[in-house]
Amino acid sequence: MPRSPQPPPFAASPSPNVSDEALREAARHLLSGGLIGMPTETVYGLAADATNGLAVAAIYAAKGRPSFNPLICHVDGPEMAAACARIDARALELMDRFWPGPLSLVLPRSDTCPVSELATAGLSSIAVRSPAHPVALELIRQVGRPLAAPSANRSEELSPTTARHVIEGLGERAPMVLDGGTCLAGIESTIVSLIGPDPVMLRPGAVTRHEIEQIIGPLSTPHSSSGVISPGMMRRHYAPRARLRLNATTVGAGEAFLAFGPSPASIIATLNLSESSRLDEAAANLFSMLRELDSKFEAIAIAPIPNEGLGEGINDRIKRASAHLFEDGV
Ligand code: TXA
Ligand code: MG
Repeated sequence: MPRSPQPPPFAASPSPNVSDEALREAARHLLSGGLIGMPTETVYGLAADATNGLAVAAIYAAKGRPSFNPLICHVDGPEMAAACARIDARALELMDRFWPGPLSLVLPRSDTCPVSELATAGLSSIAVRSPAHPVALELIRQVGRPLAAPSANRSEELSPTTARHVIEGLGERAPMVLDGGTCLAGIESTIVSLIGPDPVMLRPGAVTRHEIEQIIGPLSTPHSSSGVISPGMMRRHYAPRARLRLNATTVGAGEAFLAFGPSPASIIATLNLSESSRLDEAAANLFSMLRELDSKFEAIAIAPIPNEGLGEGINDRIKRASAHLFEDGV
């Protein structure tokens, strides 16, 4: 099968401002059961040694996250993944093409998997990914174990794309945050389940459906398949306080307008996700712009965003951020 163009060079980001000593200290902290705010190319994660049940329990407590919602285990490559999960040919091809990078694979847990049952919420499957951020990769290497890391926000709040967001959101719950700069991708990893015969896209994200389908063929959606779901795909998620109005082509009194591309002549954009209509730029700006508008406005009108390529992941986040009325969440 012909190879598609390489994904954006997440790993080639500028050298982050994290000293060797800070990295060593973070690794020691993780090995003694502590939590670390860890930069990745998607969003910041709240990391713990995935093999240490107590450390993993501290993640759930710090986030206020229900413990039925499993965590992604971050590995330094396919070899560490193979110690945790049963890897088939499809998984190998995807790892070869997208790792390190923003693709999480849900695979059967291996019999000898060292990861705590709490991290996988007692499921017989496990989500693994190798992050394309030099700080995250080096941290995993130094710890020598998989790191369980959900996004480093309180449950249901907006995901953090800077170290400052983590500190503002988690405060003392994340006593040490490594500042690896602003996350380049800006939305979370794409999650693909390879548990059944047909691959299922559980969450759209920073690798597009098309890129994945070029490697392993059609992806089904959780609805059309036989009950494979991601426990974390709660309808309400990423919730700002402000009311959101989607596909907006007008702006009401007191509303901020979050534009994408050129705005209609009658509207002045409060912020623009991407003036040049670039979806990668919009993804990178999404959470920080929502945060900024949320701190200043009661209501935010968001311009339509095409639902293709990275737009699928962006629209998924916006829809769930606007789902206040549908579900209270936990
Ligand atoms: O980009 C990302 O994926 C970020 C960074 C930090 O790596 N992490 C992240 O983690 O978004 P979190 O916890 O916010 O989202 C993980 C999602 C949840 O929806 C969870 O239900 C799902 O992954 N998940 C984890 N293990 C699973 C499994 N075994 N089966 C199905 N879904 C799983
Ligand atoms: Mg999250």
